Amino acid sequence: MPTYPFAESFNLEAAFNEVRDYWSPKVVAQVNDQYVKVAKVRGQLLWHDHAHEDELFFVVRGRLKIEYEGGRIVDLPAGSMHVVPRGTLHNPVAEDECWIVLIEPVQTKHTGDVDSPLTKTIEAQLHGAG
Ligand code: NI
Repeated sequence: MPTYPFAESFNLEAAFNEVRDYWSPKVVAQVNDQYVKVAKVRGQLLWHDHAHEDELFFVVRGRLKIEYEGGRIVDLPAGSMHVVPRGTLHNPVAEDECWIVLIEPVQTKHTGDVDSPLTKTIEAQLHGAG
């Protein structure tokens, strides 16, 4: 680790420029038991939770909204950070293309226990194209 093209140091914008597909996180670094991932997102992912893991979102470009049950929406313009607490249903939404950095435990599945066409395996996040 990391096996993503930046073995020693990397430029964040260059890392984003390698990402082609929306909702397809790519691991760029490992810090102890956490992966640092970059993702481009647009539209909505899906409602899911992570029973045992908090998940950090850092919005680098664009604007992300995290929807919670009960109608609460956390609005995250570029430069914002937000931690989704473990065990909390959430749905990330971006009206336009948005670039995010994610920090989450290595075992975290980005769509929780929901299997959808958007779900990417950890292996794909480490080595996959797209
Ligand atoms: Ni999540």
